[in-house]
Amino acid sequence: MIIAVDGPLASGKGTIAKALARHFGLPHLDTGSLYRATAVAVLDAGIDPADETAAAAAARALDLAVIDEARIRTAEAGAMASRIAALPGVRAALFELQRNFARQPGGAILDGRDIGTVICPDAGVKLYVTAKPETRADRRWRELAAKGDPISYQTVLAQTRERDARDTGRADAPMRPADDATLLDTSSLSIDAAIAAAIHIVENAQTA
Ligand code: C5P
Repeated sequence: MIIAVDGPLASGKGTIAKALARHFGLPHLDTGSLYRATAVAVLDAGIDPADETAAAAAARALDLAVIDEARIRTAEAGAMASRIAALPGVRAALFELQRNFARQPGGAILDGRDIGTVICPDAGVKLYVTAKPETRADRRWRELAAKGDPISYQTVLAQTRERDARDTGRADAPMRPADDATLLDTSSLSIDAAIAAAIHIVENAQTA
């Protein structure tokens, strides 16, 4: 069973994907972490994010064993991730890794922006998790504040809108629900309610 979970920043897709992985006993890949780790490599090497060849080389050289979880979660890494994720060369460099993860015997769960549309168009279950931009910005702001980041809510909201626009507006693998995805709006759901709804959607898809 392959489960594809897509959706915008702070929609709850990561939390839901992790919970589904635990519930159904499936390996899970947060594909955003690949773009974020590439972004950190680009930042550290001083690569111009418009230099597609150099950014793609950074993506190909990625060592998953040494990803610095704290660093890839910063707002700076997220913003750079969405810039380099618009480069077809970077997406191509990360494609096989994601595909191979999905093809494990026994199945897998992947979350990202283009899992249901590009990486696993034949996934057995596709979820598109979303929420209002204000709700998502508030969640993200709280997360950053808890880590001691002094960024304001208004800045996070502006960044959220900017990131959405870049992710939906790019030509290569834009963020969008697959035609056969089930939409899950988490705007007014608690984490537990969102997870329960997602489990329900997967179970329904399995019996369909
Ligand atoms: O999900 P997360 O916020 O960690 O992703 C960071 C950025 O990586 C996204 O804004 C998006 O531009 C990019 N991304 C992508 N395709 C994916 C996962 C992430 O383009 N499958």
